[in-house]
Amino acid sequence: MTTALCPGSFDPPTNGHVDVIRRTAALFDTVLVSVVENPSKSPMFTTSERIDLFRASLSGVENVSYDVFEGLLVDHAIDRGVDVIVKGLRTAGDFEYELQMAQMNAGVRQVETLFIPTSPQWSFLSSTLVREVARLGGSVEELVPAPVAAALKEKLA
Ligand code: PNS
Repeated sequence: MTTALCPGSFDPPTNGHVDVIRRTAALFDTVLVSVVENPSKSPMFTTSERIDLFRASLSGVENVSYDVFEGLLVDHAIDRGVDVIVKGLRTAGDFEYELQMAQMNAGVRQVETLFIPTSPQWSFLSSTLVREVARLGGSVEELVPAPVAAALKEKLA
């Protein structure tokens, strides 16, 4: 039984996140999607709202569960007994940053990271841009799952 951990801020979940999680769920027995709780940030959505949005967006995917973590990702990974961290890579810029974290996490606590390339149609997408477009009145319907688009509309109304 292999479990993959997909961690992130997911504020809010995008089509890119959902795509990476779906593809990870097809490769591993179970996937744990863990939302980081960062007390120094003021997110648009609470961690439990973000998990609810994932549940609504990934309702057909049976082998996914959800969690929240604070502090070091490797500590959370070991605590939950996952086999591997899985991250989506959009660009070479992502790779540089993610490689450093993956090497740190493998070096200090022997937790390995696997990278999965983001589907090309989502390589430009980020939660930050989605929030900005939504705040400025642009359409995000093509960028995020329908429950997220509805939640953004409600939040910004
Ligand atoms: O969606 P994001 O913002 O790219 O997710 C980044 C996240 C939360 C996975 C990353 O910042 C993280 O692992 N944070 C927890 C603290 C930590 O372990 N930092 C890395 C030390 S090598």
